[in-house]
Amino acid sequence: MTSRRNILIAGAAGAAGIAGGLAWWRSQPPAVTEPPFTHDAAFPNKLRVPGADGLYGIHDVASAFTLAAKSVQQEIVPGKAASLLAYEVESQGKRLLNPLIRLRSGGKISAKLWNGLDETSIIHWHGLTVDSNNDGHPHYAVAGGATYEYSFAVPNRAATYWYHPHPHHLTGKQMYLGLGGLFIVEDDDELALQKALDLKLGETDIPLVLHDRRLDANGQLVFNPTAEDKADGFLGSQVLVNWTPKPYFEAATRLYRFRILNASNARPYKLAFYANGHSGGQPLDFQLIGTDGGLIDSPRTIKEVFLSNAERVDVLLDLRNAKIGDAITLVSVAFDPMEHEEGPPGADKPSEAAKDTQDAKPAEKSAHALHGADSKKEKDPAPAPAEAKEKDKIDIPEPGVAMDILRIHVRHKEAYDRAVPATLSRIVPIAANCASPRMINLDHVKMVWRINGQTYQHETTPITVKRGATEVWNIKNAAASMPHPFHIHGFQFQILERINSPAQQKALSVNDKGLAASDLGWKDTVLVWPGETACIAIDFTHPFSGDQVYMIHCHNLEHEDQGMMLNLKVEA
Ligand code: C2O
Ligand code: CU
Ligand code: CU
Repeated sequence: MTSRRNILIAGAAGAAGIAGGLAWWRSQPPAVTEPPFTHDAAFPNKLRVPGADGLYGIHDVASAFTLAAKSVQQEIVPGKAASLLAYEVESQGKRLLNPLIRLRSGGKISAKLWNGLDETSIIHWHGLTVDSNNDGHPHYAVAGGATYEYSFAVPNRAATYWYHPHPHHLTGKQMYLGLGGLFIVEDDDELALQKALDLKLGETDIPLVLHDRRLDANGQLVFNPTAEDKADGFLGSQVLVNWTPKPYFEAATRLYRFRILNASNARPYKLAFYANGHSGGQPLDFQLIGTDGGLIDSPRTIKEVFLSNAERVDVLLDLRNAKIGDAITLVSVAFDPMEHEEGPPGADKPSEAAKDTQDAKPAEKSAHALHGADSKKEKDPAPAPAEAKEKDKIDIPEPGVAMDILRIHVRHKEAYDRAVPATLSRIVPIAANCASPRMINLDHVKMVWRINGQTYQHETTPITVKRGATEVWNIKNAAASMPHPFHIHGFQFQILERINSPAQQKALSVNDKGLAASDLGWKDTVLVWPGETACIAIDFTHPFSGDQVYMIHCHNLEHEDQGMMLNLKVEA
């Protein structure tokens, strides 16, 4: 574990001559015993939920529509208009921004992207089964002022999918600045669940899209990645939920469904709910009912779940026994971020004790040799460039630091007498085992992240599979690495086994394959820790004739934009 970000900030702040000690901006180092923060005044803003119009307004697809990617004025901090990039959709006299697209399984999308940006863009439909032409491969990115036509069927089962830009080198920036939305597919199992639990989207079925962001004093988004940020991933200072900073949600004494998407560029979370935020309290039980690709077989009671970039979890929180006035906090609890780019903790690394003190810098310096140009910053005490000065002003918690996300206030009594169905759906296991897998190796050379020793090249297709084949992949992350959320376009897969998992992952396992509850459903993204191997099974059956070219990549958006991405060809 390193404290690189803090160290760089320390260097910059010191150079700027800030007097009186540096403690005010310094993040707490991750400590497993650290309780979640609990200041009620810390949640002044009502959570934005998908409604009839505006940002995240619900768009039930009935006919062709146009998504205009453009800059809009939108308050993030109340009272402060900010510039945000959004997909604007005009529908039946309503203006929707980054609409929540809702569709029945088997339905059709006929949509046009109009690129109103001054750079290329393209939309990718994350998690859906589409052909190459509709997949938003960067190859199809269109220039500012141009349009791209999408036309595809949605055969997928019910789930919380999403859509976002995918132009090479620009995905992280465009998503950070606002572009992206949810895509909810419904089917019979889903409608049966909604009926059984009396769930209504936007009222008792609440999507929670997590974006960590830096906001300046005027409530404007700050995106100024340094070389360091490009190597590690750009982190925000606070977690916005549905673009609401410091949000609260008012609830009744009943059951709620939260569909949680980690849409952050680079920050992973370990989610838990705490009652009244008592320090030292125990996390509450909640039920996991779905993953990236929809409902799991039956509900699983859990207390904690890792959610890395692009992953979704679908959970139920039971507030029937809560009292009016209770407050429940959705938090990310402290965990080991395992930023082990310079190798796993070992003899020539700073000791645990040293790491947590401000004097650990000399011992950590060797790690920065890997960062090439960045290491210069450390040695050079000269005043920092403008981007580092900006960082001085904003406290950037390191990954793995505990963060409060959402406060839920129990405000109303409600008679609610519904039981969670014992069976939610049926997942047919892919018949495969991990005996002779294809190897997918994740590593880096001088902080250039690679897949099988390669970085993205437009015209090469390093991974070729046969349409209709079932393949088993061992996604093996190097020991000297960071956690990588590994994503495959065009197909949902199943995780068969986790091998050599770190203790914090093992602690969540529910079977002898090392799988966590959140590994049991259909997945399109899997978090692989340094030193760990995720063995997955993919059925490359799809309805499209002709060769199709998809992508595999790390969903840390800076890693992706720096080339931790390869073409995946599915041969007809
Ligand atoms: Cu959400 Cu290519 O990814
Ligand atoms: Cu995708
Ligand atoms: Cu990565």
